[in-house]
Amino acid sequence: MVASADSAGSSFDSISFIRRFANRRHALDSVNRRLDEPTILELVGPVQGRRVLDVGRGLGNLAARIAELGAEDVWGIDSSYGMIEKARSNFSHPQLSFSSTTIDGLAGENLFDTIISSMVMHFIPELPSFLKTVVRLLKPGGSLVFSQRHPIRTSNPNCRPAPSDPNWVVTKYFDEGPRDYTWLGQPFRLYHRALSTILQALAKEGLLVDAVVEPAPCLADVESSAIMVEARAIPMILACKAIKP
Ligand SMILES: C[S@@+](CC[C@H](N)C(=O)[O-])C[C@H]1O[C@@H](n2cnc3c(N)ncnc32)[C@H](O)[C@@H]1O
Repeated sequence: MVASADSAGSSFDSISFIRRFANRRHALDSVNRRLDEPTILELVGPVQGRRVLDVGRGLGNLAARIAELGAEDVWGIDSSYGMIEKARSNFSHPQLSFSSTTIDGLAGENLFDTIISSMVMHFIPELPSFLKTVVRLLKPGGSLVFSQRHPIRTSNPNCRPAPSDPNWVVTKYFDEGPRDYTWLGQPFRLYHRALSTILQALAKEGLLVDAVVEPAPCLADVESSAIMVEARAIPMILACKAIKP
């Protein structure tokens, strides 16, 4: 298996952004900790003896957890060199490695039992080509488990809602394509796709959809966190498991 040389920098490479992202992500009530990671781990299921690729690994948390749970090996990749440097300094485990590359830089086929990608898909400009590579790299019977920002939010990413804000709107839902927005003080471009487009793209590459989840905070979480109040009012995450037959 060959990875390309470390990729050029990305919007995620700004040191000050990575610091802000780490603060937000590591907060006790972050969407990642409360909603995303538990959903991904449940969809992935037992990992003992599995070869796992984690695409868009960010700071390394989930990959490290999966290594601790007994995977045969876990490879976290990310287009941001800065994120990968942080992941390497945050986590060390004999079964865990990190590289700065995108998935298109990976050669070979039928290599992984599981490919994970959490909160990344909305940053991928060409979904069909991403999924073709996933299918090539997965072993038969292997699964893709991904999450992304929910399509009702990617439609209008500049909306910063409070749950009761009457100005929060889902708009231009069927006008798919790039959206420029500001996140944690940094400009980003994401790619909005309707839910049906995402599911049809999986089917078109021959992947069998096994589960679709919109994680909702439990009522106890809602009592203790304004972010969870918001996530209970307007879904934040779409997660999915799809299997290569
Ligand atoms: C919102 S962060 C999520 C990070 C991590 N998966 C998590 O859940 O904390 C998105 C990550 O995807 C990475 N990314 C964006 N586009 C990518 C691509 N085409 N290939 C690999 N990584 C990518 C970014 O550098 C960033 O680290």
